[in-house]
Formats: sequence, structure tokens, C-alpha cells
Amino acid sequence: MEVSNRVKKVLFSPIRKLTPYAEIARKKGVKIYHLNIGQPDIETPQTFFYGVDKFKEKVLQYSNSNGEKILLESFSLYYKKLNFDLDSKEIMVTNGGSEAILFTLMAVCDIGDNIIIPEPFYTNYRSIAAACGVEVKTFTTLRRNGFHLPHKEMITELITPNTKAIMFSNPGNPTGVVYTKEEVTMLAGIAKEYNLYIISDEVYREFVYDELKHTSILEYDEIKDRAILIDSISKRYSACGARVGLTASKNPEFNNEILKMCQLRLSSPTLEQFGAANLINTPQEYFVKVRNEYTHRRDVLYEELIKIPGVECKKPEGAFYIIAKLPVEDAEEFSKWMLSEYSLDNETVMVAPAEGFYLTPSLGKDEIRISYCLESEALIRSINILKNALMEFSKRT
Ligand SMILES: Cc1ncc(COP(=O)(O)O)c(C=O)c1O
Repeated sequence: MEVSNRVKKVLFSPIRKLTPYAEIARKKGVKIYHLNIGQPDIETPQTFFYGVDKFKEKVLQYSNSNGEKILLESFSLYYKKLNFDLDSKEIMVTNGGSEAILFTLMAVCDIGDNIIIPEPFYTNYRSIAAACGVEVKTFTTLRRNGFHLPHKEMITELITPNTKAIMFSNPGNPTGVVYTKEEVTMLAGIAKEYNLYIISDEVYREFVYDELKHTSILEYDEIKDRAILIDSISKRYSACGARVGLTASKNPEFNNEILKMCQLRLSSPTLEQFGAANLINTPQEYFVKVRNEYTHRRDVLYEELIKIPGVECKKPEGAFYIIAKLPVEDAEEFSKWMLSEYSLDNETVMVAPAEGFYLTPSLGKDEIRISYCLESEALIRSINILKNALMEFSKRT
């Protein structure tokens, strides 16, 4: 039996691609430090679990398709605290930011349309687009510029009559970039000038370091009919397993279409929405503590990485990822080797080869993405293993 050509274009996650090799290491009894995934080790705030406890019904019913009232109000209040005026009706609860992206692309694109995204990008953008029959066009951002945006013309030259949207994550996964006000203003200007939607994925909004300020797409009144926000509690509250995200928009027609898709999958999980609703009561100190912790980890990781001969990287400004160039030709081959053939005192590291974060062939071949979701001691140990592995690997080749 044949499967669809559309589904064949969906790629396996490059972040998990090396899992079979990790299995080899595990079977040999080798301990693996996972620098490859964005699963934070920070504790989920207790407020989430208190919220779940508040649920006293005898039947665990479907929730409203657009989300539990209590959660919609809680999200609306969260945005109000950030000075963004979003009514409950302008928010649609989804199963994580992932479903929010899927529904958004289905709502704004037809099969054969295209969207423009900066590369390197969050790999699921490409897979979700492929699943929707949407082509991805990319403009390249560079490590040496901290992955900030290129000139406007490098973006606008990609626009065709079938281009429907510009999409990006800010702060960036996998780049750690935080776009300046000028950059977001430029993107908003392009969206207006070329009549495009602008899809801003802000799931890492709280993870911005060094007194930098995050610029949200919600700040731009003049594009409120075309601005779509993707958001999630996964990273903000270290609650990836709750699967609670959202789309937010001031465009009633768009919201109406998203509601239809929310209805076709019936509802998001009820209990988790009760937990998520109570996250609004998380004390502000939680964010201060978490931000300080990530800033510390980023600094430790960066300082350790740049000590390694041949490794090049820029200090990330946000999120919890760093892209590093390694002194190897093929970072994927090296990453596989670290798992299958190498260990230091019976320990090794798993990283994400960066090629899969680019659309342009051969870009990222000598780069890896490291996530700093591990505490700093484990990070220091991991980077020491990486350094030794690079030395061993160079002798071998
Ligand atoms: C940039 C970005 N957007 C969206 C998501 C989706 O997260 P979730 O579906 O858990 O909300 C992720 C997850 O890693 C991400 O990195």
C-alpha cells in the first residue's frame, strides 16, 4: 500500500535521529549526557499541581474546544500583565505550541503555498509545513552575526504570489537569538507591505538574558489583523508534558477558522488545563530564579566551549540553546561516533547535529546544537567529554 507523498516529506526529527546510537551506548552501560533536547530539568511550579487538585468533578469530560474558561481568563490576565490586551475570545487553547503551529499553517495556507522562515530554524516548522503541503523558503542567518536578521531585501526577494506568511521563533530555537525592536519592526513592515501573515513563536519569551528586552508581535497595532502569536506553557513553566499551548490573534476570521480545527480534535486535556490556569499564581521569584539559573548555565557552557581549540560560537541572548561550530567536517558522523565508539570514564554526550536545522544543503554540516537544560556541573562535565572526544576523533581521522 502506498502512503501519501505529503507524509513522505515529513522528516524524522533530527534531534532524535541519533537515538539508535544512544541505545548502543546505553546497552554498553555508558552514561549519556543529553545535550540534544529542550526538555528542561527545572521543577514545574507547585501552582500547576494545586490547579489540578482544584478539579473536583466526578466525570472527566471533554473541555470546550477553544479551552477551559478558567484557563482562557488566566491567559488573558497573563498578557494583561505584559501590557497586551487579549480577550479570552482571541485566544484558542491548543495541545502545545506544536498544534498551534499546525492549525495556523492549515488556516493561512493552501496546499502549494509557501512560508518564509529564517534558517537555522526549529525543525518542526519544516515537518509541520510538509504535513500541510506547504513549501518552506528560507533566508540564512549567520553564526558570526549571532543569527540576527539580514537586510530586508534578502527576505523580500523570496516572496512569490504564493507566499502567505513569515514565521520565526523569538527568542530563537536553535539559535538563541533575541531580535531587536528594529528587527521585529522590519518583519512587521514586510508583512504589511506584502500582505502576509506574520507568525511569531514566542514560547521562550521569558528566557531573555543580559537586560535585553523581548519585542512581541503583539506590540504592533498596525498589523494586528495579520499578527499571529504562538505560545505555550511547556518552556515557560517547565511543563512540556502538560501539552498546553495557544494561538492568539486580533483577527476574528482567523480565530474562527482555528476554532473549527479545535473542534475537529474535540478538546485539549481537561486536567492539564486546570493546572495551567493556576500557573498565573506562580510567584514572580520563580521567573527570576529560573532566569538566573539559565543565565549561569549559558555563561558556564559558553566559557567552556570557547576554550576548546577549533570550536566557534556566539553567546546566546535567549532561549536555552547554542549553536557551535566544531573542528570536524561532518558533525553528524562525529556525534554518532561519540555515542557508538567513544566514552570517557564510561560517559559520553548526545548532541544534535545542526544540518537538520537548515534547508540550504551543506549548511550546518560542521555545527551542533547544544541545549543547556542540564545543571551547570553536568554541563561542565559534558563539555569536558566533548573536548576529549574531539581530540580522540582528530587522531582517528
Ligand atoms: C520554537 C519552539 N516552538 C514551539 C515548540 C513546541 O513546544 P510545545 O508543543 O511543547 O508547546 C518548541 C519546542 O521545543 C519550540 O522550540
